[in-house]
Amino acid sequence: MLHIEGLSISIENRKLVSDFSCALSENEVTCLIGPSGCGKTSVLKWLAGILSPTLGATGALTLDDTGITPPHASTTYQPQSDALFPWLTIAQNAALGLEVAGIPTKTARADVLMHFKTFGLAGCENLYPEQISGGMRQRAAFLRTLVQNSRFILLDEPFSALDAVTRLRMQAWLCDQLAHTPRGVLMVTHDLHEATQIADRILVMPAAGGPLAANISVTTPRHARTETAMAQIRTTLKSLLLES
Ligand SMILES: Nc1ncnc2c1ncn2[C@@H]1O[C@H](COP(=O)(O)OP(=O)(O)OP(=O)(O)O)[C@@H](O)[C@H]1O
Ligand SMILES: [Mg+2]
Repeated sequence: MLHIEGLSISIENRKLVSDFSCALSENEVTCLIGPSGCGKTSVLKWLAGILSPTLGATGALTLDDTGITPPHASTTYQPQSDALFPWLTIAQNAALGLEVAGIPTKTARADVLMHFKTFGLAGCENLYPEQISGGMRQRAAFLRTLVQNSRFILLDEPFSALDAVTRLRMQAWLCDQLAHTPRGVLMVTHDLHEATQIADRILVMPAAGGPLAANISVTTPRHARTETAMAQIRTTLKSLLLES
């Protein structure tokens, strides 16, 4: 269990985030929603240990009741863009996280290559990012994130650049991956449909700092999340976002 307690982030005299607390479970997908500019990315960057030094942050992070300091090996961060390097092949990009973690290049490449088929990337190993589709690039970025085997993954609007159909496919694909290999996921999204289809828990951040506006457990099994079944929770989330 990863606990964030009393996280406040500010720049000069302006509070961006104040008193943000939540617990992330290892087998749960937690979606973080809130109005643009409320500090969602800043929370993820703090967790990843890459918050800009111009921002001041205070707060505690504990993993299984032991205090830790970000960046920590238990978390992997995937930024909003797919952040693939254009001069590296898809296989080289996918292996990069492992190499940065100190795994020898040959071992890292072998590790990622065995997943290319599962990730729908067979045949793309030696292509460059500009030679494959947006959905494929997204999967390559996911492969780079997931092979790192960290207990928690932090995803910042991972599907925002995709068309509607690719987006639905990628959501289903992510749920399949997690069913196969459960991870704790903290995922930022602006899409209420996406949040209610994927999340086990939804955190709503308020616009003007302050503690979470809501922390909602989604108990309907994923296969039963029809439009009708999820209508009520979507209405609640919409009202919370409009009020915040
Ligand atoms: N390095 C920085 N320097 C100054 N202000 C910053 C910096 N990073 C973020 N901010 C400000 O902090 C606030 C929160 O930004 P953040 O990117 O965390 O919001 P967000 O909730 O992720 O928004 P969006 O939904 O639009 O991605 C914004 O007002 C932003 O301008
Ligand atoms: Mg953001």
